[in-house]
Amino acid sequence: MPTGSSDMIRRRAFRRTDNYMPGTLKLKLVEEVLPPLEPTSVLIKVHAVSLNYRDANIANGGNPWPVLPNGILCNDAAGEVIAIGDKVKGLLIGDRVGPITDTKNISGREIGRSWLAADEDGVMADHIVFDENVLCKLPDHLDWNEAATIPCAGVTAWSALKGMSIGQTVLIQGTGGVSVFALNLAKAAGLRIILTSSSDAKLKQMSERYPGILTINYSSTPDWDQEVMRLTAEEGVDIVVENGGTGSLVKSLKCTRRGAVVSQVGYLSKQDPADLRELVPTIIDRRVTLRGINAGSKYDMEDFCAALSAAQTRLHDLIDKIFPFAEAEDAVEYVWQGKQVGKIVLRL
Ligand SMILES: NC(=O)c1ccc[n+]([C@@H]2O[C@H](COP(=O)([O-])OP(=O)(O)OC[C@H]3O[C@@H](n4cnc5c(N)ncnc54)[C@H](OP(=O)(O)O)[C@@H]3O)[C@@H](O)[C@H]2O)c1
Repeated sequence: MPTGSSDMIRRRAFRRTDNYMPGTLKLKLVEEVLPPLEPTSVLIKVHAVSLNYRDANIANGGNPWPVLPNGILCNDAAGEVIAIGDKVKGLLIGDRVGPITDTKNISGREIGRSWLAADEDGVMADHIVFDENVLCKLPDHLDWNEAATIPCAGVTAWSALKGMSIGQTVLIQGTGGVSVFALNLAKAAGLRIILTSSSDAKLKQMSERYPGILTINYSSTPDWDQEVMRLTAEEGVDIVVENGGTGSLVKSLKCTRRGAVVSQVGYLSKQDPADLRELVPTIIDRRVTLRGINAGSKYDMEDFCAALSAAQTRLHDLIDKIFPFAEAEDAVEYVWQGKQVGKIVLRL
């Protein structure tokens, strides 16, 4: 038997129903046999799972890439190693770990991709089994709920802000998980922040929590790019955390300082190619680097965890609401309706 193996051979997991009709259940709780513990894999007792827009989108049939039929939802988990295969070298029983989001993205140079909850089963389960190679140790100073937000939203925000320096200005779109993570990192890094939202109430809440940030309601100010220019004395921002995609990209480019970076993270708006007519001239005029973000590699996650540990940064401010595991369906619907400001976590 593998080191530290328990007698447990079954687990509880939420699998997708793949019924995309509005009003129907999107998840089914199943009890099933655990995947085998291969020599280089470890068994993890999951303590917290965090949700992303992607999970709600997959559960409702909107993922732009193919997904495993009736797969287990979610890619962000934090848990404790409770058994290890006999060839595991880098992890011990009791280590606090989380899997990376794309298990083929170790260094950033691999060719393939295999996303949790899409190409393979995700993590919305009380126990999961992964090869040690796709696991990162999580910072000791974080509780389970905070640690569960790191792999996707955290690493994405980290990748989107890479290369920025103190005193620069960042435009962050929306008040969802990635955005609030980016806001926290930008604050810690000494950047000036312009935050947008469709909700005055959310902007008020964020201004109270993070004094000094500048805010714009992108619904009531359709020319929000011009407002960004006004707020920056017509200079523009140094970096954009772009969440809208086609519907907002050209405006995002237009309100940058020359030579800025636009990190393309999301695709939340209606994706209409007609909105991209001015794309090429605007990129050229603004001399912008348009940077595609795809979460990050294992090395990125390790760097990010090291930075969090070095600064002892806490992440509890990011968490909007914690649901019990049994209420996973409600948690997915909450995200699908966009009710959250920051992260939603399931606690096991
Ligand atoms: N590329 C990657 O690696 C990566 C990784 C993670 C996520 N993503 C993508 O990034 C996006 C955000 O993910 P998330 O998990 O943070 O989502 P989330 O928690 O569901 O947050 C979404 C928020 O974005 C805002 N929003 C909605 N439509 C918008 C629009 N058209 N323009 C600007 N903001 C808009 C809304 O904020 P307000 O209510 O305040 O308006 C909404 O609450 C999604 O498209 C997701 O698929 C990409």
